[in-house]
Amino acid sequence: MCGIVGYTGARSAVDPLIEGLRRLEYRGYDSAGIALGTPTSLFIEKRAGKLANLESALSPNIPTVHSGISHTRWATHGGPTDRNAHPHVDNEGKLAVIHNGIIENYSELKAELESRGHSFSSDTDTESVAHLLSDLRKEHGGDLTQAMRAAVKLLRGSFTLLAVHADDPERIVGVRRNSPLVAGIGDGENFLASDVAAFIDYTKRAIELGQDEIITITPSSIEIIDLAGKAVAPREYEITWDAAAAQKGGFTHFMLKEIFEQPKAVADTLIGRLSDNDQILIDELHMTDAEIAALKKIVVIACGTAYHAGMVAKYAIEKWAKISVEVEIASEYRYRDPIVDSSTLVVAISQSGETMDTLMAVRHAKAAGARVLAICNTNSSTIPRESDAVIYTHAGPEIAVASTKALLTQIVAVYLLGLKLAQVRKELSDLEVKSIYHQMLELPAQIEQILETVEPLRELTRKFATSDTVLFLGRNVGYPVALEGALKLKELAYIHAEGFAGGELKHGPIALIDSVKQTPVIAILPAGHENALDEKMLSNIQEVKARGARVIVIAQEGDAVVGAEHIIRIPSGPALLQPILATVPLQVFAYEMAVARGNDVDQPRNLAKSVTVE
Ligand code: AGP
Repeated sequence: MCGIVGYTGARSAVDPLIEGLRRLEYRGYDSAGIALGTPTSLFIEKRAGKLANLESALSPNIPTVHSGISHTRWATHGGPTDRNAHPHVDNEGKLAVIHNGIIENYSELKAELESRGHSFSSDTDTESVAHLLSDLRKEHGGDLTQAMRAAVKLLRGSFTLLAVHADDPERIVGVRRNSPLVAGIGDGENFLASDVAAFIDYTKRAIELGQDEIITITPSSIEIIDLAGKAVAPREYEITWDAAAAQKGGFTHFMLKEIFEQPKAVADTLIGRLSDNDQILIDELHMTDAEIAALKKIVVIACGTAYHAGMVAKYAIEKWAKISVEVEIASEYRYRDPIVDSSTLVVAISQSGETMDTLMAVRHAKAAGARVLAICNTNSSTIPRESDAVIYTHAGPEIAVASTKALLTQIVAVYLLGLKLAQVRKELSDLEVKSIYHQMLELPAQIEQILETVEPLRELTRKFATSDTVLFLGRNVGYPVALEGALKLKELAYIHAEGFAGGELKHGPIALIDSVKQTPVIAILPAGHENALDEKMLSNIQEVKARGARVIVIAQEGDAVVGAEHIIRIPSGPALLQPILATVPLQVFAYEMAVARGNDVDQPRNLAKSVTVE
């Protein structure tokens, strides 16, 4: 996610603007930039790469000014280059904009603005806003605040925007929609930022902003208006965190922060993926309908948690698109002679885009003549660069080693792929696709609902903190969920945990149940009662309970459950979408076990966030 900072006051603006970006580096970025409000014009500097690149570009001729905006970019539209870095300016070079989020209708705006004579210099969605604001400011008598209010009515998507104009450099205007923006109140100075970490060293007095509220700051004033232009009373609060906690948004660990970011991550990955005429939009696939129709097989390659997303893909794509899907552990795939050709689509799933096992499997598949689609969370990383196409998930940077929000967005991405293939191959009607897409739009609120009931889960976890073995059972799409729950527990609590297909229990694993230790078993009850799978799982629960296991069940609201010591309820929904919801309590369970056992949650022993060796 991008980092946003605005400052106006008595200090030399470059200090709070650069220090603010440094405090936001944890958000992940691949370029940085600054606009300083000198009395006659704007001083703009921006560089790809780390903050140090921007700082070295600034040192020789930096002007001493007292206001400006600065930005760290996490690339979505357009690669991480100098010219795509923010700020973006209008053609006169007098109005600068920085942005966090996605302007969904930027291409329509760009076409309209170009027809009015604006010329563009970047590949970004943000630049459209700079030119739009420039026109609107002229239409509103030079009033940047009113221009921003008019602009917001024309924008679709999620955004935090800051703008500054050379004619009135100490005035900074900001707005937010589904993206964070907070104001800091100083003494003769004021701040705007993506989160309080950017200015917490200068002030602990903050103002929260609501949806579509436009804020204007000067050194001596803060004014907020709504879309109707009506004044909004500032909602001030005291920041109680210290700087370190602020980078985690007040959460104790990045992992917990990222678990709670999942509703937004899923929502952002779904944004703009269904057209007005009910067509799934994945232009980045770079495949014609004929090529899609000719596909005979899909092979998913991935590691770890990403591999579990691939397992979900098999159930969804085979059911919706009626294409055969194989799911392969990347490190195994490349030592086989896989049967691939031009009618095979290989899908490489990777959060980091740098996992060597997956990268080597991609090269192996390409050498065998397959087309490769990457599903990745890190813009311009190696795996997307070496693939024929890429679908970027919009989870934002995932700092904790244990992958959480990336997994949910990977599953959303494979759902979108499955719907696209099914629609083109006419296996699903437009109405069916629209219905499933709208069910997916419910997921962010349903995840929120689960997270609101996380407190009892914390207490429950404490009961099992000393267990040395935990088993996870799932059936159908619940099977990858069971594997993911076990992996989370292994990597966070250092507990021997195993995930099984429920039907496999009687073929050996049930011998692991220790009646003395009362082995904990977590069972994911299948959703949707498809082919009476839930009855078979209910039998599994009885079988393990009869042998002394303590049973926790993940079940949808309304599902009848017998024999469980504890039932964790999740919202009801379609069976194929259940993994998105059933995984969340297991993430929290593993997190709480790690905390209870005093482990390093964000950096578990022996593990790396990206395994760049084979
Ligand atoms: C997941 O919690 C682990 N950190 C690990 O299994 C991870 O999913 C795996 O290494 C793949 O990483 P990638 O998605 O970056 O390729």
